[in-house]
Amino acid sequence: MTPDEIKALVRTIPDFPKTGIQFRDITTLLGHGRGFAATVEWLTQAVAGAEAIAGMEARGFIFGAAVAARLELPFLPIRKPGKLPCEVIGVEYELEYGLDRLEMDPAAVGAGQHVAIVDDLLATGGTAVAATELLRKAGARVDRAAFVIDLPDLGGNARLASQSLDVRALMA
Ligand code: PRP
Ligand code: ADE
Repeated sequence: MTPDEIKALVRTIPDFPKTGIQFRDITTLLGHGRGFAATVEWLTQAVAGAEAIAGMEARGFIFGAAVAARLELPFLPIRKPGKLPCEVIGVEYELEYGLDRLEMDPAAVGAGQHVAIVDDLLATGGTAVAATELLRKAGARVDRAAFVIDLPDLGGNARLASQSLDVRALMA
């Protein structure tokens, strides 16, 4: 499938979860088996060479875990607060529509391990910058991030590039 065919499977919902937000809904893409598989394949190529894949709860788990399994690499779950049963490191961040916090188990990362971030969508970049900060705190080298959707007007791509990340996105 072409990127344009995959893009046609993403639904846009106006004013969700707040007035003024154009919400890009990937559930319609997930509901299309061939489209989902083609998306995972594209992301897999985009992170080739990584030694582990990190994904952010919740939508990043869907794509990140699929990519990690496809490459037979470790998957590092970056979680919303209070979910992990171990000692965690955490960082607060701002979303397009609110404030949140991410946490991870620092022992999950090998020192100097090359970790690629996978998520469904890049908007302000707050989530991906927070994940990068967490992974680097835990000792990872984070050099790449791959997304299904980039909303470049919201500045996330530029923010991540300024953190020395190679940023790829299947569609804008
Ligand atoms: C969404 C999306 C990205 C993030 C992008 O997650 O899945 O992780 O927002 O926005 P940003 O670039 O402005 O940080 P959300 O926090 O809504 O959580 P969800 O995956 O649980 O739906
Ligand atoms: N996460 C942050 N901004 C978003 C948007 N516009 N659509 C879907 N998920 C998002």
